Amino acid sequence: MGNITLGDSRDPSSYPKEKFHLTITSPPYFVGKEYEKDYSFDDYRSLLKDVFRETAKRTVDGGKIAINIADIAAFSKVTGRVEETDQVLPEITRNLKEDDCHLLARYIWHKDDPWVNSQHVCYHDKIPSTYVRALPNWEYIWVYYKGDSTKREGVSPIDESISKERWKRWVSAVWKIDSVRANNDHAAKFPEELARRLILLYSVVGDTIFDPFMGSGTTAVAAYRNDREYAGIERDFKYHALCIENIDIALSQPSIKFKPYVPPEKFKQDKLY
Ligand SMILES: C[S@@+](CC[C@H](N)C(=O)[O-])C[C@H]1O[C@@H](n2cnc3c(N)ncnc32)[C@H](O)[C@@H]1O
Repeated sequence: MGNITLGDSRDPSSYPKEKFHLTITSPPYFVGKEYEKDYSFDDYRSLLKDVFRETAKRTVDGGKIAINIADIAAFSKVTGRVEETDQVLPEITRNLKEDDCHLLARYIWHKDDPWVNSQHVCYHDKIPSTYVRALPNWEYIWVYYKGDSTKREGVSPIDESISKERWKRWVSAVWKIDSVRANNDHAAKFPEELARRLILLYSVVGDTIFDPFMGSGTTAVAAYRNDREYAGIERDFKYHALCIENIDIALSQPSIKFKPYVPPEKFKQDKLY
């Protein structure tokens, strides 16, 4: 079973001993959420640098790191001048290069329309004419590989792990997945479907999937349901407890486990499931 540490992912002693085949994570966005209030912008930049450095060190050659983050600039102010225009992913990319991790793929996660669950947008008669601030219904997922090769040693060919139909749909890099509506127990969960796709595309059965910002445990639950091991770190006591609870619920419901892909005898277009 996996290891979810209650700790700070800047601290190397919080990390499990095993190596990671795939990291799937959504770091804090520096948008004033309760769990990031103690960070200055410099702290925030150091957090990302330190955590992804520690993660990179523990990633196997050919292993992947998938980072989901929104367009930070769009969050900084709802009206008036946008004060913070930095986008963090290019900086993460530069930093990860120093740790021998290189950009492999960039996805757009296309979510539901912003007015569905945003407190920042509503149509009313006080909005001045000619003023429109577009709020994004999308986020990024950038994927990196470790080392000289994008490939992993000793893994089976793709036709033994994922259907051709699914592969064709998912290599189109805009993924339409509704966001999590019920953020009532955690302030910023990502959908299990997002983690599931990354797991199926970038790992094989038995791999260890890691999340240094584990939150409510979505990455761990998706890993378990797809026959992978999981490991992670969460520093907030109540989110750590929530994560353990969500994993326990998943373990008690093995029937909703994803059915491993059974490849057809001949690699051909097979049915979606
Ligand atoms: C965007 S949320 C991740 C949500 C997660 N993907 C989910 O689906 O529930 C970021 C999480 O990082 C945690 N966090 C913030 N700073 C941290 C740190 N230094 N070490 C470990 N966890 C941290 C926060 O408490 C929060 O739960």
